[in-house]
Amino acid sequence: MKAEQNELLTRTGPATPMGELFRRYWVPALLAWELPEPDCPPVRVQLLSERMIAFRDSDGKLGLIDEFCAHRGVSLYYGRNEECGLRCPYHGWKYDVTGQCVEVPSEPEESGFCTKIKLKSYPLIERGGVLWTYMGPPDQQPPEPEWEFATVPAEQSYTSKRLQECNYLQAMEGGIDSSHVSFLHSGSLNTDPLFKGAKGNQYNLKDKKPVFEVVESDGGLYIGARRNAEDGKYYWRITPWVMPCFTMVPPRGDHPVHGHFWIPIDDHNCWAWSFDYHPVRALAAEERKAMEDGKGIHVKVFPVTFRPLQNKDNNYLIDRAAQKAGHTFSGVEGIGMQDASLQESMGPIQDRTKENLVSTDNGIIMARHRLMKAAKELAAKGTLPPGRDPVHQKVRSVAVVLPSGTPFKEGAGEALKAKKGVAQTSV
Ligand code: FES
Ligand SMILES: [Fe+2]
Repeated sequence: MKAEQNELLTRTGPATPMGELFRRYWVPALLAWELPEPDCPPVRVQLLSERMIAFRDSDGKLGLIDEFCAHRGVSLYYGRNEECGLRCPYHGWKYDVTGQCVEVPSEPEESGFCTKIKLKSYPLIERGGVLWTYMGPPDQQPPEPEWEFATVPAEQSYTSKRLQECNYLQAMEGGIDSSHVSFLHSGSLNTDPLFKGAKGNQYNLKDKKPVFEVVESDGGLYIGARRNAEDGKYYWRITPWVMPCFTMVPPRGDHPVHGHFWIPIDDHNCWAWSFDYHPVRALAAEERKAMEDGKGIHVKVFPVTFRPLQNKDNNYLIDRAAQKAGHTFSGVEGIGMQDASLQESMGPIQDRTKENLVSTDNGIIMARHRLMKAAKELAAKGTLPPGRDPVHQKVRSVAVVLPSGTPFKEGAGEALKAKKGVAQTSV
C-alpha cells in the first residue's frame, strides 16, 4: 500500500475525504444510560476529531453541541444543565440543545445579541439503547439506523463500548479477518461462556488454513471463510462488513450473535462498540451477567473513560505461563483484549507500506478498496456512499456447513439477511 493510500484511509478529521465519508452516516455516539434523565450531568463526546458536549435538557431533549463556549472558550463540560439549556459557568452564557445561545446575562436583552451566537450542533437520537449522531450536511441526512441489534426488544440485546488506543482501521480490519480466530482466540473458544459448546468450534480449531471468498453486498461485503468439515463438506463462517465500519462475527451454536462498530475518536483512538443480541429470544440472566463481566467480546473498563482495565500501561496483564501452557494463545485473557492488545501494538496508525498481505487478507483488501473508492467519489462527484439505506443494514453473520461446490452466497442465501422473528443460522 502506498503511503498516500494509508493517509486517505486513516484520516477522518474535518475536511478529509474519509472524514467526509464518515460524516454521511449515523454513528453511535453514547450509550443511552450515559444521559439517563433530564438535566443530568453533560458528557464529553469526541468523534472524527471533533470535541463536543452531549446533554439532555429539562424537557428530556437531547443535544450534541460544540464543547467550547462561544464567549472565551471555556469547556461546557463544566457547565450547569438547567432550565432547558447548558449554562457556561464562567460568565453565564446559556445554550439550548441546538447550540443556539439563548442568554448572555451581561448584555441588555433588547440588544438581541445572543440571537447572533450559535454553536455548532448535530442531531442526537436514541435507538436500541444507543445515542446516534449524524455529523454531515443536514440535507444529506440518511433515514434513522435500522441495524438489527438496535431494533430487537431491549431484553434481547446488550451493548458496550471500550476505548481502543489506535486508529479505527486496524481495529476494524481485525473484525474482517476471521483467520486469526484459529490462533489468537483458540484458547478461549472452548472456555468462554459466550462461545463454548458450539460444534463449529471444533471445525474452527481443527482447520487452521481457511480459504477466503469475498463477495460484494449492497452495503459492503460478505467475507466467507471456508474450513473443512466432515464427509468432504465445508464449514463456512460468513462475516458481513457494511460501510463504513460495521462488522459482525459469525455465530456459534445458540449463543447470541455479536458484532462491532469501529468509530474514530481521532486518528489515534477509536471506540470499539460491541453488541450481542439474539434475534428471537431474551438474553438469559447468565448471558447478560457474562457480558457485564467482560466475557465474549466485551471487556471490563474504567468508568467515565471506558479505558479497559487491561491496557498498554500494564502490558494487558499478559500471563506468560498461560501463554506457554496454551491456556491462552497470546497470554492475554479475554477475546476483546486479545484483539485490542495486538492491534494497539501496531502503533497508533499501522504503517501499511511495510505489510505483506496473503490470501486470507482478501476481505481486508476489498474493504480498503471500497472505502477509498467511495471517499474519492464523494469528494469528486458528491456521490453518496452505500450503507446509508436501512435495507443495506439488514445483514447477519452466518455459520453453516455446506456441500463442497456450493458457493456460500447461494448456500447461505436468505440466512445472510436479518429477518424479524427468524433465528440466526448457526453451527
Ligand atoms: S467563557 Fe463562557 S460565558 Fe464567558
Ligand atoms: Fe478477534
